[in-house]
Amino acid sequence: MFNHIYKNKTVLLTGHTGFKGSWLAFWLHQLGAKVIAYALSPNTSPNHLDNLQLPITSIIGDVRDEKHLQTVFQTYQPDIVFHLAAQPLVRASYAEPILTFETNVIGTAKVYEAVKNTPSVKALVNVTTDKVYHNNEWVWGYRENDKLGGHDPYSTSKACVELLHESYRKSFFKEKGILTATARAGNVIGGGDWSADRLIPDIVKATVQAQAVQIRNPQATRPWQHVLEPLAAYLLLGQQLLEGNTKAEDAWNFACDAEGCVPVRTILTQMQQVWQEVQWQDVSHQAKPHEANLLQLDCTKAKSLLQWQPVWNLATTVAVTTQWYRDFYEKQQINTAQDLAKYIADAQQLGLQWAKN
Ligand SMILES: NC(=O)c1ccc[n+]([C@@H]2O[C@H](COP(=O)([O-])OP(=O)(O)OC[C@H]3O[C@@H](n4cnc5c(N)ncnc54)[C@H](O)[C@@H]3O)[C@@H](O)[C@H]2O)c1
Repeated sequence: MFNHIYKNKTVLLTGHTGFKGSWLAFWLHQLGAKVIAYALSPNTSPNHLDNLQLPITSIIGDVRDEKHLQTVFQTYQPDIVFHLAAQPLVRASYAEPILTFETNVIGTAKVYEAVKNTPSVKALVNVTTDKVYHNNEWVWGYRENDKLGGHDPYSTSKACVELLHESYRKSFFKEKGILTATARAGNVIGGGDWSADRLIPDIVKATVQAQAVQIRNPQATRPWQHVLEPLAAYLLLGQQLLEGNTKAEDAWNFACDAEGCVPVRTILTQMQQVWQEVQWQDVSHQAKPHEANLLQLDCTKAKSLLQWQPVWNLATTVAVTTQWYRDFYEKQQINTAQDLAKYIADAQQLGLQWAKN
């Protein structure tokens, strides 16, 4: 897969103790990479990374700690960096805007300083978000060249990261021959997420306590996708960059097709089909901080230039995700390897280039 590019490569991954990072660590390890991972200690219990017990080099550190980052980069001399560590929650960003800007913007700058000072690094993929776009609440999908912006501190911090990225690319990385890209993906779901203030973890936590989950924005439409969809895209981008494809040096949208852009209430209904115990209560009348209502991405560029495309439709995405949690709580079973194997097999069925053995 991915042209065997990751086999025996040293990959530095930030944010591996989180939801997406733990899945990416798992996949990279399966691909034969030597994974050096850097993040804060897991802050959820249960935690997916702990469940997986991966034989990777896990370093507990803060991206705001420049000295520590420099030491880690100098010690391990990575070939490629996937930067995922962030304060990724909109509501937490209202409570802690300074922490959010420090982690997401200054933390990224410090990771980039370490990249700049480490000659082994050939490629860098930075994970931002679909929320980097100035949200017009319109029906069309955002394209990569649409205006950046943000309302809440989280979205704004990630829009800042896009500017920072461009500055480092032009000022430092270009002359050093380090190829870089940013990836803007939408709402991601899948097993193994227990973060606060996220839809699926909130539903799961309420369900296992036989409670109805409080839904504050049932009409909010998001581009839902399984966590493996953007991860395949990040790995594909990383492959292109490592292979020296300068056309991949850009910002990229990765999201589900239009059928996967549905309101929160549809996700709830589909989850109930797999897990009848899921119950919910509409609390949209309660006061809440501003959250965007409609946000869709246009992925034409990734589809035509990277030959990337989503593998699972919404029904499969929600069913696989729900089953992961059901099996975790009812059978103490971790379906991560099984879900990845199914995802790869389905990608092969679709004839996707990255999935070829
Ligand atoms: N989950 C989504 O739906 C989604 C959507 C779009 C973009 N993203 C982006 O993907 C990335 C990963 O998100 P996630 O959902 O896995 O989040 P998560 O909260 O599960 O994980 C965040 C990770 O960042 C680490 N981290 C936070 N602050 C840090 C610090 N100061 N120093 C070092 N590490 C720190 C945490 O320890 C953790 O490993 C983030 O950059 C996020 O903005 C996520």
